[in-house]
Amino acid sequence: MKLTIALLAGDGIGPEVIAQAVKVCDAIAVKFNHQIIWKPALTGAAAIDAVGDPYPDETHEICLNADAVLFGAIGHPKYDNDPSAKVRPEQGLLKMRKKLGLFANIRPTFTFPSLIDNSPLKRERIEGTDLVFLRELTGGIYFGEKGRKDGGETAFDTCTYTREEVIRLAKKGFELAMVRTKKLCCVDKANVMETSRLWRETVQSMEKDYPEVTVSYEFVDAVAMRLVQWPNSYDVLITENLFGDILTDEASVISGSMGLMPSASVGEKNALYEPIHGSYPQAAGKDIANPLATVLSAAMMFEDTFKLTEEAKAIRNVVNKSLEQGIVTEDLSGKNKAYKTSEVGNWLVANL
Ligand code: IPM
Ligand code: MG
Repeated sequence: MKLTIALLAGDGIGPEVIAQAVKVCDAIAVKFNHQIIWKPALTGAAAIDAVGDPYPDETHEICLNADAVLFGAIGHPKYDNDPSAKVRPEQGLLKMRKKLGLFANIRPTFTFPSLIDNSPLKRERIEGTDLVFLRELTGGIYFGEKGRKDGGETAFDTCTYTREEVIRLAKKGFELAMVRTKKLCCVDKANVMETSRLWRETVQSMEKDYPEVTVSYEFVDAVAMRLVQWPNSYDVLITENLFGDILTDEASVISGSMGLMPSASVGEKNALYEPIHGSYPQAAGKDIANPLATVLSAAMMFEDTFKLTEEAKAIRNVVNKSLEQGIVTEDLSGKNKAYKTSEVGNWLVANL
């Protein structure tokens, strides 16, 4: 197959982890006889520095025309403590999601048997955890009307959802539940928020189309609690943008390292794959960041977008092997030898 992949390395550790995923994908291409055409493009703080825009039109064109987008991370500390910055790297990410129509953010959380004791939670609480969040990504408070009034003394952000937006996300949730354990949890705050009541009423009205799926409705605060108590009681969870942002960070550390979890953001036409972790600026340029989340994101890309299941399996197998054999970066190495980011990448390629 000929695969054109837009490559958005971004900021911080983005370029380092992306470089390992590229090596792995290239090795897969050789092994399975594919041709990958990489289309590198600027995004984030790197793009602001170069052209003054965190998601330049040129980058958008490249993403639109690619078969998939592989993305590293976005963000730079020089903007974090400067609320007055006019352009921010994160705006690039939001603009990209909106312009590419990536309305569903798929964030799985699963455990690796060899890493269970790295988790901040007790073994018996997390064994068997295998859940997926479907976070709505182009609506809600992230994109609603916002501003200041009263001479700047009052600020507001508005959360808005249309029924259509809820339906298209929930549909993906039901479909995913159907190919998993047929359990779906709708996470909302319907006891307080009107948008949550629209979510709940809409999802309820869709239940009849998926009679095999058991749907539960839970408040976001309770889900935050149960996620650390019994994460293995969940399967597919659907939720709106901000709740999903918060809960998926919480869920991502259950596996033992945030450096392990992949994700996908999909729309009608385009799909983007990225590690859940951020730009981790403290580690940038040190060759110490864990590349596995990015490598596993590439596996998701092969499976979900290219429908190349064997290729995805090969990537996951070699990642598991590296974990079992302790070929890991410092976040996972404990008292044992810590490998460099690039060494882990090289090992994966050599063992594919
Ligand atoms: C994420 C990030 C982004 C978000 C930030 C960087 C804008 O936290 O992808 O979860 O809030 O969506
Ligand atoms: Mg987040």
